[in-house]
Amino acid sequence: MVERAETRSSVLPLLVTLSLLQLPDYTAAATQDWQDYKHGHQDAAELHDKKPFCSWKCLLFTLQWPGAFCQSLDEETLCRIPPSINSWTIHGLWPVRAFRCCKCWPMFQSDVQELEAELTEHWPSLLQTQPSFHFWREEWEKHGVCAACVEGMNSPLRYFQICLKLRGHFDIYKLLEGAGITPTCDHPYKVAEVRQVLAPHLGDKHEIQCVTDDKDRELWFQVKIPLSHNLTVGCDHHGHGHADWDVASGRGAGRNVSDRHPCPPQGSFYYVPIDPQRPRQPCG
Ligand SMILES: *[C@@H]1O[C@H](CO)[C@@H](O)[C@H](O)[C@H]1NC(C)=O
Ligand SMILES: *[C@@H]1O[C@H](CO)[C@@H](O)[C@H](O)[C@H]1NC(C)=O
Repeated sequence: MVERAETRSSVLPLLVTLSLLQLPDYTAAATQDWQDYKHGHQDAAELHDKKPFCSWKCLLFTLQWPGAFCQSLDEETLCRIPPSINSWTIHGLWPVRAFRCCKCWPMFQSDVQELEAELTEHWPSLLQTQPSFHFWREEWEKHGVCAACVEGMNSPLRYFQICLKLRGHFDIYKLLEGAGITPTCDHPYKVAEVRQVLAPHLGDKHEIQCVTDDKDRELWFQVKIPLSHNLTVGCDHHGHGHADWDVASGRGAGRNVSDRHPCPPQGSFYYVPIDPQRPRQPCG
């Protein structure tokens, strides 16, 4: 309970900063316009789906650790870490179980031109064959379009702005550094110890994800932060366990996801340094 109170107070500054996200307050007429617009683009199966408009309740904000991201890919996928990258980067902001997403809202480079420098720094593609813009566009088309039923995220520009603000707010590197937890090959950290540092900021439902490397070490490569509709930390609506959360996570081509898993709660993992020279083997 005490933890929840702390969580809430840590998030208020974010809400003030964002200040533009509200629960949808659509008039019936506006909703109808939107439905008409969408129906023009829907196939028959979707039309029979009676799920209400903007039905999702929770978002997952997912950050990846470049130090171990390359090990989460299969061997054939070429991975690179741009030399300027030295902290957690954005993977995506995903509405959970969003039913009404259309493929009707294309995104162009000019949509996010003013954010390009920031996005390049905080949301780079780490796949050698995928330009960063293609990564952003894929995330927009898979997830952003679904998020866009909420005022404040209803354009590529606004959606990516929100993501960048969230990235600034959740400075995992700094939070851990403050607790003496820094990337190293020398020793692993206990999962419980890290969660304890993060929980007051990310909520107690945040998920820490690992991959197992070829020496059978657990490597921390990703964290998922549940958020409510209004971007406060935590979300009580998901209910059905982790399988559903994974549905939101979207997959890019060529990624082997079978080995990605929650880090064993009673175990420990390596928080390995970022090494652009040896992205797959930062610890040799
Ligand atoms: C945000 O949404 C949650 C869940 O719907 C609600 O409990 C909370 O009061 C809201 N917070 C603000 C500041 O609007
Ligand atoms: C994906 O990873 C699993 C587990 O490490 C492995 O057994 C499987 O062969 C891999 N698949 C591909 C396509 O690389």
